[in-house]
Amino acid sequence: MCGIVAIIRSHTTLEENNLESLPEVLISSLNRLEYRGYDSAGIALGYAEEDGVLSTDPDTRRPTIERFRAAVSTRSLEELKKQVEPAVHSAHTAGRDYNRGIGHTRWATHGRPSEQNAHPHQDCSGSIAVVHNGIVENWRELADELTSTGHLLESETDSELIAHLIEEEIGDTDMLEATRRAIKRINGSFAIAVMDANSPHSLVVVRRLSPLVIGTGKGICVTASDIPALLGFADAYYVLEDDEIASISPDGIHAFDFAGNPAQLHPIPVSWDIDAAQKSGYDDFMGKELNEQPAAIKDTLLGRMTTAGSLTLDETRIDDESLRDVDKVFVVGCGSSYHSGLIGKYTLEHWARIPTEIDISSEFRYRDPILSSSSLVIGVSQSGETMDTLRAISLAKNSKAKVISISNVVDSSITRHTGGVIYTRAGPEVGVAATKTFSTQITALQMLALYLAQLRGLLYPDEIGSLFDQMRTIPDLVQTALDRSEEVLTVAKEIADRRDLFYIGRNTGYPVALEGALKMKEIAYLRAEAYPAGELKHGPIALIEPGTIVIAVATRGRLWEKMHTNISEVKSRGATVVGIVNDEDDQTASLVDYALFVPKTPPLLDAVVDVIPLQFLAYHVAKLKGLNVDRPRNLAKTVTVE
Ligand code: M6R
Repeated sequence: MCGIVAIIRSHTTLEENNLESLPEVLISSLNRLEYRGYDSAGIALGYAEEDGVLSTDPDTRRPTIERFRAAVSTRSLEELKKQVEPAVHSAHTAGRDYNRGIGHTRWATHGRPSEQNAHPHQDCSGSIAVVHNGIVENWRELADELTSTGHLLESETDSELIAHLIEEEIGDTDMLEATRRAIKRINGSFAIAVMDANSPHSLVVVRRLSPLVIGTGKGICVTASDIPALLGFADAYYVLEDDEIASISPDGIHAFDFAGNPAQLHPIPVSWDIDAAQKSGYDDFMGKELNEQPAAIKDTLLGRMTTAGSLTLDETRIDDESLRDVDKVFVVGCGSSYHSGLIGKYTLEHWARIPTEIDISSEFRYRDPILSSSSLVIGVSQSGETMDTLRAISLAKNSKAKVISISNVVDSSITRHTGGVIYTRAGPEVGVAATKTFSTQITALQMLALYLAQLRGLLYPDEIGSLFDQMRTIPDLVQTALDRSEEVLTVAKEIADRRDLFYIGRNTGYPVALEGALKMKEIAYLRAEAYPAGELKHGPIALIEPGTIVIAVATRGRLWEKMHTNISEVKSRGATVVGIVNDEDDQTASLVDYALFVPKTPPLLDAVVDVIPLQFLAYHVAKLKGLNVDRPRNLAKTVTVE
């Protein structure tokens, strides 16, 4: 997840506040956004006129911007510091300092991590610099338009287009108005900071759907993606709302809506300490990431439906003809990634009508699978580094199968080994337990199923459109489920002292049960086993005795009534049953001891919503037991060994 910072100060602010030079302040702000994860970074700097100098191009004498960028993974900020030192030194020697700058930590989504793709991006003249967090959905159309009118694009990013769009508008107006006009041409999400070499006394910031806060302190104004970047300089901060734009200067903020009406900003005192702030106020990363799921799913869906109404998955990089010929799909993954594959199978078979096998990577590679050039192997891995999945992919490649991956990390080993990739845009996941990467993997697999159905002509365009619209409703339903965390806590208190738990479900409810049990094992250390509910009577039911806890995923899927029978079977043997139940389903609620309600979802899309109370259940039980949910024992976030 990218982070942006923009700082502008008055002439004497830094000495008065006992701060270092502006580039150092800017880089230390970016450092505080490091927790968002990044693979490259950059800053752009400018002088004020009162310092007696504007940075100018020696040939044209036109004001310019000084830009520094680095792409050496998590060492990029250190590298930037080194790059900028000589410039700071010569400024000090000349008795002046930069008065403003914008900076960016990049988590690659469009274009691989590289210096060329690192922000800030500039227009053709070099006098406009832009940092951007978000996604330009209509980038392809815009890139075509801009190149056809002579703009030279130097990066593979969607963000660079914004600088050129502003360049097109700035001729007859100021930076604020030019930015406002430019962003009207963008579909998607953005938090943007703009710096213009010709406007040394202000910066422009604008927001839609991506976070942006503006902090003010003595003679300084700082804008950033998150509060930690403001700490140390700002006494108060303001939240810019969606579709608002502001000009910031050391004297204050002038904010407007997109129609030009003044926007009301309300000051909030800065009260966070840096440590708490990096978790955005949550006690731990898992709590934060769990709650980020609606935004992560939304971002993963962004830009996939063209204005012409067809689904597009550019990064798959396998031509349509070959994909159309696929006669069998294999999904391989480990842990939660394996579970998302199990869930994806339902849509791959139902919508795309392709036989689909799901394998644990470490089993797949040793079982001599029957693969051919018409097989499609999908490697699912949030980290993109899991050794077993990497090896499974290599086996598939060697067998001439078509191979794609679903990953959350751009340019990771697995994505580099596959012909194509669908990125989940969940942002970095720090907690060892997969939460937002799990739900976005399911979203990616569902999109792929829909895409294959489209290619194979199995669904009419309006059916594709309507299914995609249903997928777009999921983030709000997930939010509703997240808002009920307190109800799950009540149940967690009842079961926290038990040792053994059973999870049961049918259809997509079975992999949801598997995922719920995995979460409970890995962070709360309880023996949690999941079974297909219909399988109970073939053995596991012998373990049910009075007081055994059974967690039943019993939302209204195709086999809802059969779940009632299974619930009765365990109840009659004395089990205490916790049901995951749809809102207003009194019938199921009356059968169970504790009902955890979730909103009803469209058919086949229920897993992402139904899993939320199970994620919370494991989380609350672990916290009640005083365990570290982010770093459970014996586990690593990335498993690069066999
Ligand atoms: O990075 P990957 O998705 O390939 O990781 C696979 C598993 O190691 C991972 O899902 C693991 O099971 C998680 N800790 C589950 O919460």
